[in-house]
Amino acid sequence: MEIFHIGAECYPVAKVGGLGDVVGALPKYQNNAGQLVRVVLPRYETKFIQENEFDAVFSGVVKLGISEFSFNVLKERTNKLGYELYLIAIPTLFDRKEIYGYEDDIERFLSFQIATLDWITTRNEIPTIIHCHDHHTGLIPFMMQCANKYERLQTVPTVITIHNSIYQGQFGFDKLYYLPEFDLSKAYLLEWDNRINSLASAIKCASAVTTVSPNYLNEINDWAYGLESLFRLVKDKSKGILNGIDTEVWNPATDNMLETNYSIKNFQKGKQENKEKLCTEFNLDPKKPLFSFIGRLLEEKGADLLPHVAAMALSEHPKEINILVLGSGNAEIENQLTHLQTSFKGNYNAVIGYNEELAHLIYGGSDFLLMPSRVEPCGLNQMYAMRYGTIPIVRRTGGLKDTVIDFGDNGNGICHDQASVSDVCYSIQRAVNLYKDKKKTNDIRKLGMQIDHSWESVCQQYIEVYNLILEQK
Ligand code: GLC
Repeated sequence: MEIFHIGAECYPVAKVGGLGDVVGALPKYQNNAGQLVRVVLPRYETKFIQENEFDAVFSGVVKLGISEFSFNVLKERTNKLGYELYLIAIPTLFDRKEIYGYEDDIERFLSFQIATLDWITTRNEIPTIIHCHDHHTGLIPFMMQCANKYERLQTVPTVITIHNSIYQGQFGFDKLYYLPEFDLSKAYLLEWDNRINSLASAIKCASAVTTVSPNYLNEINDWAYGLESLFRLVKDKSKGILNGIDTEVWNPATDNMLETNYSIKNFQKGKQENKEKLCTEFNLDPKKPLFSFIGRLLEEKGADLLPHVAAMALSEHPKEINILVLGSGNAEIENQLTHLQTSFKGNYNAVIGYNEELAHLIYGGSDFLLMPSRVEPCGLNQMYAMRYGTIPIVRRTGGLKDTVIDFGDNGNGICHDQASVSDVCYSIQRAVNLYKDKKKTNDIRKLGMQIDHSWESVCQQYIEVYNLILEQK
């Protein structure tokens, strides 16, 4: 099979969150499983892109209404990532510092999608499957099905994987003329709630819809930011597939971002040494349990609770615990987290920013990882944490519910149900008590380290979806 993955992020080329990890890993494992896999994403100004060599393989011009943007398709020369990597270079739209967050994001990602299809449609071979990720690629199934100029791709089955249904890529019908010519009687396939909605259109048009965990699929049938009734309509072509993790990148035995490598055989010593390194660097106490948070500082992740949780937990357990936060996002949350540094010196620290290397060390050196998410379609951090012997403390939602079971039920973590300060603090209280029982704590760590969340088996589930839609064709 020749599979194209199209997305806005792909680690290590460009990453903001978990989407990048998944689009970076799944293709590699599909390739290992014998498929021909290509990944397509925009050419941003990232370190990886600047440091690697690419060849131009195609060039063209995207027409977006009356605007025209020249583009090149660049192919990474060595296939070093384990699959063929293609970048769509549209300098005026993507030569910028950030990946998202611009006023013209609609124009940027629509141009990316059109350029990608302009290129794919001219290739000799027609792909077996086009696999899109999130709303940034959500108009591709529609365009393949309906746009006159992509008629050649009309019968190629498509998959949309939903990593998060909060973001839907909506815009007004006043921009309908941006899209390549199509039979206007098909415009209803673009519409949701009187606007063009990229994600809704993908859900309507794709041959299969997947979500990144089974429980998230159940949840969005009840509540999905206005799309719930649409999800219910497409139940028969939907499947929840729990993400894997890249066990080559995330392996405490070989991870060169750690101070000390370790495995299940010597994790106590290994974790302690990583903890000491962290505590020295961030002025914390290595004798006390270390609770960390890693991620985007957004309400969706429950990050607004963190400043209150930290203040309350550190007051309730003075000098008994450490809290360390790494992340960036909402400016108010960033300020509140920074402010706390003066009140709880020696037991609390916050690093505002994105730092992949530090994240690895935090998984290695922490005792507990906090994930108070309001919404978590899958969540990868709890799986990284467990692989590094760090016990996750999670709100039972989305993929967190599929992957973490409370230790009271002989599970691998600590769970609570509400996204509230008191629920998180209660879990911290339970963790503090648990930590006093070294044997039990270590047993839970070992349980987590032994779980197999590798992509090998997950990969097969996607192949099953592909086979099913190929048969239906
Ligand atoms: C998004 C979701 C997260 C998921 C990731 C990868 O970032 O918020 O829960 O793990 O995508 O699928």
